[in-house]
Amino acid sequence: MAKITAGIATSHVPAIGAAFDQGRTQDEYWKPVFDGYEWVKQFEKLEDPDVIILCYNDHASSMMLDVVPTFALGMAEEFEVADEGWGRRPVPTVIGDPVFAAHLAEQLVIDNFDLTLMNEMAVDHGLTVPLSLMFGQREEWPVRVIPLAVNVTQFPTPSGERCWQLGAAIRDAVQSYPAGLNVQIWGTGGMSHQLQGERAGLINPEFDNAFLDKLADDPEDLRKITRLDYLREAGTEGIELIMWLIMRGALGEKVEELHRFYHVPASNTAVGHIVFRPVD
Ligand code: DHB
Ligand code: FE
Repeated sequence: MAKITAGIATSHVPAIGAAFDQGRTQDEYWKPVFDGYEWVKQFEKLEDPDVIILCYNDHASSMMLDVVPTFALGMAEEFEVADEGWGRRPVPTVIGDPVFAAHLAEQLVIDNFDLTLMNEMAVDHGLTVPLSLMFGQREEWPVRVIPLAVNVTQFPTPSGERCWQLGAAIRDAVQSYPAGLNVQIWGTGGMSHQLQGERAGLINPEFDNAFLDKLADDPEDLRKITRLDYLREAGTEGIELIMWLIMRGALGEKVEELHRFYHVPASNTAVGHIVFRPVD
């Protein structure tokens, strides 16, 4: 039986990818950020997951205004790395798991989540920057990845509660897969940040730390956070935190918090990172 063995959340700032690709991880500005991911790099070596269900958002790299899927599941054999305007990141192509993805798609649609199925999709910094942070520099990624892209860029975006429910359905879908897979679920994006408008540069450490504090044992309050609350409290891009709720919803009721990191700022963003183990 497939099993979700860990849940990981992290911010996914493009400038972190640029610093990584250009060998600037030990610069004064970037070192504290990359140091925050040393723990998880060791963890991933020991855990050696087979597949990651990677909940992130596309930033108009693959999905522009012509098609706006609310939840888009990556079904392909592989996913090219998107060119986001300054060239493709020099990281490996992402390898998918079409058979497992087909199972997830079937179970989730049966469970009333009307997914968009992506048979071709390039993946942007929302997915590749977290892979670099967890696995470092690689010729090939050591794990298969099923991308799950959530619309947080075009209104109407899904609610945090809907994302939580999707996570719970993913948990059931994984558990009904007969092959013995070591599965992780990741949620990327956030924490507080706003990239444009009068409040550009907004960071809200109180909101972020309350979110981190409640995610393990007291997530009921977080499920109730509305899209307007995210906008007000965590800035225009703070809504990316709803991907963290998919991850947490997929872990079941009880989790153990294994690791946490918070650092301000990286580019315009408050960087948060947390690692959970589901407790059966
Ligand atoms: C930044 C952060 C993001 O999450 C993103 O998608 C783009 C930019 C930033 O802080 O620069
Ligand atoms: Fe983002």
